Amino acid sequence: MAYRNLLISRRDAVHTITVNRPDKLNALNRETLNELTLAFAQAAQDDAVRAVVLAGAGEKAFVAGADIAEMHGYTPVQAQGFSRAGQRLMSSIERLGKPVIARIQGFALGGGMELAMACHLRVASEKAKFGQPEINLGLIPGFGGTQRLLRLAGRAAALELCLTGAPIDAQRAFALGVVNRVVTPEALDQTVDALADQLAAAAPLAAAGILDAVLQGGETGLDQGLEFETQAFALAFSTEDMREGTSAFLEKRKAQFQGR
Ligand code: COA
Repeated sequence: MAYRNLLISRRDAVHTITVNRPDKLNALNRETLNELTLAFAQAAQDDAVRAVVLAGAGEKAFVAGADIAEMHGYTPVQAQGFSRAGQRLMSSIERLGKPVIARIQGFALGGGMELAMACHLRVASEKAKFGQPEINLGLIPGFGGTQRLLRLAGRAAALELCLTGAPIDAQRAFALGVVNRVVTPEALDQTVDALADQLAAAAPLAAAGILDAVLQGGETGLDQGLEFETQAFALAFSTEDMREGTSAFLEKRKAQFQGR
């Protein structure tokens, strides 16, 4: 399907979704949110997709936030719908059941930082800038930023970034645990591709179990989280991939996982 604001590409089992509004620094208007929701639903349903990369077009920005021009005229009811649509998108990415990597080369501000935080792993160029500047607009984050930043980096960082609205560089984001890797701009594509290939080659049902257990565990107490892990661990024993993985180890060969 053709999108007005996205580019879609595929390299083996790695599916790349690129927000493509570079003249607006890839700001998320309602149409782009809707298209992203559709694109991620399609990636979820396609068994040939084993890992997803989310990127922003151009050199300057991953995504510079929700579209301020569009929000400017919103009524509270429209704002509520916009926030819910954004939150639904972020949750659908988090719950995709396949690993999603954010490739961040420039500004990841506001909704852009929220979008990056909904992905499972974040690889940033050392030139990337992160922030939740909504307060400078008289707003607060509305796509899950107050909640995911709190969970990723803790209360002090969440309050500092949201209350000051000041951007932080990639190294600080790394120190806060917001990004997984920081690399030179030249090494960004290669690093993202290598990581995506590694994730795409992993046993897909085991990956889904890990994503589920870690995400559930973040929202529950230790005992419940451990019980969830036990059930997911036991379920893995019903898969052909588990037989293949353990047999391959014992036979000293490379495992071929089929996602069954
Ligand atoms: N919403 C809508 N349009 C945006 C946007 C956003 N979040 N961020 C950037 N743009 C647009 C600009 O309006 C400009 O459009 P124009 O050429 O039609 O005037 C274009 O993208 C380029 O941005 P510009 O501001 O000229 O680039 P810059 O390099 O001078 O500044 C930023 C870059 C990121 C510092 C600046 O664009 C900015 O502060 N953006 C808003 C960030 C923000 O508050 N995000 C949270 C929103 S809730």
